[in-house]
Amino acid sequence: MNGIPEAGELLELARAIAEEAGAMLAGRSGRAVVVSTKSSPTDVVTEMDQAAEQLIRDRILGARPGDAILGEEGGETGEGAPVRWIVDPLDGTVNYLYDLPDWAVSIAAEVSGEVVAGVVCVPRRELVYYGSLGGGSYRAYADGGQARRLACNAGVPLSRALVATGFGYAPERRRVQGEVVAAVLPRVRDIRRAGAAAVDLCSLAAGNVDGYYERGLNPWDIAAGGLIAREAGAIVSGLGGQQAGPSMTVGGGPGLFAELHDLLVSLDAERS
Ligand code: IPD
Ligand code: CA
Ligand code: CA
Repeated sequence: MNGIPEAGELLELARAIAEEAGAMLAGRSGRAVVVSTKSSPTDVVTEMDQAAEQLIRDRILGARPGDAILGEEGGETGEGAPVRWIVDPLDGTVNYLYDLPDWAVSIAAEVSGEVVAGVVCVPRRELVYYGSLGGGSYRAYADGGQARRLACNAGVPLSRALVATGFGYAPERRRVQGEVVAAVLPRVRDIRRAGAAAVDLCSLAAGNVDGYYERGLNPWDIAAGGLIAREAGAIVSGLGGQQAGPSMTVGGGPGLFAELHDLLVSLDAERS
């Protein structure tokens, strides 16, 4: 039987599995084959999304049979178990398809409904972000150098903030997201659209951007990166005290979070 494990034990397992899946994904030669689409014709699933999720499921259940898993491609299994893994086997599929470097394997472990460990592995950047609840978050390079503890940027006013964002796949949602970003752009230093939500949250943690917001994210986009960003001192939440989630995810150091949050409320950014 599985007992309730320490966060460190789950983190170690998540990291080993994320790095193995990342290496498998990075090792594919040639363009990945699109096998289906989801919410729109541009929301593609490749055979590599599926292969990575299968590998991750096999490894998790090999080490901890009986745990629950919520994976983007395979849905929820093992419901009711105290430990639940939340998996995006390939975050940034469109980047992967175009051989752009910002795609990631994202694996989080939840105990009794709370995320306690998270890993975001970005193979083409040769780095891995990880964190545990109360234990801080870190960025390590694949060459084995010393891991660096992460701290998000503090004290950045909205007018000087570099803000990451992303867009969903459905055309009508995108039209509204375009209107919102057009109104945000004149109020900030600049906007970045890197193409992988988990990487955006880790960029927030590492101070590579100051803030982040996106509507339409799923639990597997947020679980690991959200923990990593919070452990680096960021606030990551929805609007009006809601949890970060599909309706809205906003992140930033405390002052910036409040300014960005209020701007998004004033723009009615959740209207689509
Ligand atoms: C997508 C990416 C993208 C974000 C989308 C996500 P996927 O995930 O994270 O940056 O803007 O909302 O759906 O489909 O590549 O796993
Ligand atoms: Ca994703
Ligand atoms: Ca994905």
